[in-house]
Amino acid sequence: MLPAVNLRPPFNITRTSHIVLTVSDLAKSRDFYVNIAGLVVTEEDSEVCYLRGLAEACHHSLVLVQSKGEICCKRFGLRVFFEEDLDQAYEFFKGQGLPAEWADVAHQGRTLHVEDPSGTKLELCAQMETRPRLYLEHEIQKGAHALMLDHTQLLVPNPAALWAFYSELGFRNSEYIAHGDSLVGAFMYRKGTCLDVAIFGGEGPRLHHFAYTVPEPSHIFKACDLAGNYGYADAVERGPGRHGPGGMLFVYLRDPDGHRIELFNSHYRTIDIEIEPVRWEAASLSTNVHWGLPAPARWYFEASPFEGTPLVAPAQKPNPETLERYTQKLAAQT
Ligand SMILES: [Fe+2]
Repeated sequence: MLPAVNLRPPFNITRTSHIVLTVSDLAKSRDFYVNIAGLVVTEEDSEVCYLRGLAEACHHSLVLVQSKGEICCKRFGLRVFFEEDLDQAYEFFKGQGLPAEWADVAHQGRTLHVEDPSGTKLELCAQMETRPRLYLEHEIQKGAHALMLDHTQLLVPNPAALWAFYSELGFRNSEYIAHGDSLVGAFMYRKGTCLDVAIFGGEGPRLHHFAYTVPEPSHIFKACDLAGNYGYADAVERGPGRHGPGGMLFVYLRDPDGHRIELFNSHYRTIDIEIEPVRWEAASLSTNVHWGLPAPARWYFEASPFEGTPLVAPAQKPNPETLERYTQKLAAQT
């Protein structure tokens, strides 16, 4: 069932790098990510705001773009190791009949825009401007002290096909959720932790969430407290809780436009060659948690579309155990 991983892929993707989102009110979104998540602004003007985590040296891991139109994810950025990896990536995507074109992107080196077979809009680059890491600048730290972008989760109509595609690109699988022979979701990595991209079934392609690490478990709760203080109590969508796969302590928040950010703590290492994927049975993992309440339906079914990209429904609509169904069952027992 598991697709073969190409350990000598056609080009070398090193990690999840950055996310580019459109927002309807740039100042409001900027304040959300600074005051609650604790990201720092690298550079901004009236049209765009570049943010990064406290431990990040590269210019941006989150780019907010003011928009009067579609609220969407414009690009999901991945890093490659060498400049020549970009040329090899261009040849690979063209050879697969997939979109690939060069783009001029501020603060980044040569940049390649491509799409995976599900239509996910990707952006590859090998270099970015750098700035000092700020994790020792305690006097300026705010919010949940978000350290660095770690991973994204994609919703796609055919997760098994995309799992195979990313395996061909060298992504390894740390854990996966399956029901019989049917894949529910796969946790894929390049950088030697358990995640760079999680691939789940659903209407897509859409960006389900992007996730930043925070220094301590207390910062998860600090984010929730600050969400309450800044008028975003309803934006605390799911958690705090602890995931089964990956074992992370987590909380999910929705930003002012509904884009979803996860803040989490703890990880493990996967770089050794003999590490094998861990299988979770979907039937025993309806809520995907070690502890914590099931996710509300909106967590399962709402996500950010990619710019100008039509949505395709999955052959089989996911039927997860939602918070709503769980509470109905509890009510029926009383
Ligand atoms: Fe996540």
